[in-house]
Amino acid sequence: MKWKRKDLLGLQDLSAEEIALVLDTAASMKEILSRPIKKVPALRGRVVANVFYEPSTRTRVSFELAAKYLSAESVSITASASSVVKGESLKDTALTLAAMGADVVVLRHPLAGAPHLVARTVRCAVINAGDGFHEHPTQALLDLFTVREKKGTLAGLTVAIIGDILHSRVARSNIWGFTKMGARVRLCGPATMMPPGIEVTGARVCATVEEALEGADVVMALRIQKERQQEGLFPSLREYTGLFGLTRERLALARPDALVMHPGPMNRGVEISAAVADGPRAVITEQVTNGVAVRMALLYLLAGGGAVDG
Ligand code: CP
Repeated sequence: MKWKRKDLLGLQDLSAEEIALVLDTAASMKEILSRPIKKVPALRGRVVANVFYEPSTRTRVSFELAAKYLSAESVSITASASSVVKGESLKDTALTLAAMGADVVVLRHPLAGAPHLVARTVRCAVINAGDGFHEHPTQALLDLFTVREKKGTLAGLTVAIIGDILHSRVARSNIWGFTKMGARVRLCGPATMMPPGIEVTGARVCATVEEALEGADVVMALRIQKERQQEGLFPSLREYTGLFGLTRERLALARPDALVMHPGPMNRGVEISAAVADGPRAVITEQVTNGVAVRMALLYLLAGGGAVDG
C-alpha cells in the first residue's frame, strides 16, 4: 500500500495496514543507521520545522537527526525562544513557518488537539510530537517497532502498561497501536489515574499490578508526570512505588523473555527500579535508537521522499 495521509495526528485514526507500512519503512531506515555514513539524499531540498512548546530530549533530537540523515533542512524552535513570548498565536506561528517553506511541521504542544488545528491551517504535513494528555503517535510507533523487531510479531502478545494512564499520551497511543495490531493490552495504576471508560479502546483494566504482569510478553512502565500532578492523585511517591513500582520481584511474574520498556524520561526508583531499568530484559535504549528510524520513516512518507539510495 501507499501512504495517502497529509498528516500524522494520532494512532486512533490509523489502520493496521498504515501502521505496518510505517514499521516496514522504519526497518529500511534502520539499515541506513547501521552504515558508517548515515546519510541518504531522499529528502534533499525539503524543510522540516520542529516546534516544541514543551520540553523534550528524545523526540526533538530524534526528529532533528532523522531530517539530517535524510538530507532535509531542519530548524527547531522552542516556544520560550520564539515570538510566542510576544503573544503570537499557534496559528500564526504555523502560518509563518509554512510561508518560509516548511514541508513538514513537527509539533509538541501542551493542549490536546493543537496539531489538528495546525493541520487544518497549513497545507504542509503536520506530525503530532505529543499533544497534552491526548496522543504521542511517534512514541507508540517506535514502541511497536521495537516489540515487532524483538518478538517477530505483534499479534497475540500480551502488553502490560503500568502507571499514570490518565495523564499519559504515550499510553493512549500505545493502546490504539497494540490493539489494532492484534495484541492484548492490560492496564494497571492508581484508580485516580485510570480514565473512566478506557475499556472502550479494547484494553483491560486490572485490579492489581500482579494481575497485569502475570504472563505478560511486554511490560511498559509509565513516567509519573510530576509536572502534571497538582491534584494529589496519590498520597506519596513512596506509596506509589510500593504499590505500582516495577521491581525485579514483580517482573518475575511476567514471561521469562518479557521485554521491559519505558518511554523516558525515567524516574528511577519511582515507577521502575534501577535494577530493572538496567537489567537484561530492558530495551529502553533500543527504543531511543528505533525512534530515529521511525521518525525518518514518517518524514520520508509524509514529505514524499524519493529513492533512499539516490
Ligand atoms: N518519550 C518522550 O517523548 O521523551 P521526550 O519528552 O524527551 O521527547
